[in-house]
Amino acid sequence: MKIYVTRKIPQKGIDKLVAKGHEVDVSQKDGVLTREEFLAALKQKPYDAVLCLLTDKIDKEVFEVVPTAKIFANYAVGFDNINLNDAKEKGVMITNTPGVLTETVAEHTFALMLAIAHRISEADRFTKAGKFQGWGPMMLLGNDVSHKTLGIIGLGRIGSRVAYHAVKGFDMKVLYYDVKRDENFEKEYGAEFKSVEEVLRGSDFVSIHVPLLPETRHLINTERLKMMKPSAYLINTSRGPIVDEATLVEALKNKTIKGAALDVFENEPALAPGLTELDNVILTPHIASATEETRSKMSEMAAENIIAALEGKTPPNIVKIN
Ligand code: GLV
Ligand code: GLV
Repeated sequence: MKIYVTRKIPQKGIDKLVAKGHEVDVSQKDGVLTREEFLAALKQKPYDAVLCLLTDKIDKEVFEVVPTAKIFANYAVGFDNINLNDAKEKGVMITNTPGVLTETVAEHTFALMLAIAHRISEADRFTKAGKFQGWGPMMLLGNDVSHKTLGIIGLGRIGSRVAYHAVKGFDMKVLYYDVKRDENFEKEYGAEFKSVEEVLRGSDFVSIHVPLLPETRHLINTERLKMMKPSAYLINTSRGPIVDEATLVEALKNKTIKGAALDVFENEPALAPGLTELDNVILTPHIASATEETRSKMSEMAAENIIAALEGKTPPNIVKIN
């Protein structure tokens, strides 16, 4: 059968599809397809499946240009780029890549947390600029992570894994908010279930791990940033629009909070004006799952979802649409 892949991805998944005898067309563009390019690409052949990315907006118009496609396999755990109601209406299956990227994203979250607390990026810029004139007792003082309180907003797979590192590796205290309380998790990690506001008020570091939904958009806004301690740091490796980014820039300028480390942006790849001029922020370009190991597993998982769907089976990572 015919499969379209919207961008070059690690070869493992492509090989799996080819090994099943499928005809695979991979976009040859070195970059994200524009809407026009994407729609034109889908019209090339009567594709049976599409392997798409979080940068591809998938909606009714897309489903209508490839009415033959039974499945859109998203190469991401998040699927806020896909209009699920349209998929349901058109009878198209949607899948994602949960689980395989949990540890990698949790590592990146911790890398950001340690980097902002220890001023790693600033120190790197300072050293490379030739400003290191000798050891200094007051030079580039940061903050400890160990024994501090970590607030986790969203205790899914990734949030739980971040808690694991925090508690087992850094003796941190964990406060968390989620739509569901998890008493087993509380027992295992000595964690406390709190409201979003209590998590913000009580934490030295706040890390966000919720999906992007209408009710999580701008979850972090002016009022909520003011609830945080002036000494606190905000980490976001989930989705940009969960944080009102312009407001965050103001809060960082005014020292409402001490710092932030972000892997995702409200209008990525655009950044809120002023963000790059701040020293108390670390920015990475949506790479929290970007390790060779994990991206390869994601490509295999997306391929397995397509293979199952094309064999008339329920794909292992089907997104349930209510
Ligand atoms: C990346 O952001 C993902 O959702 O996998
Ligand atoms: C995403 O995989 C999550 O559950 O955190």
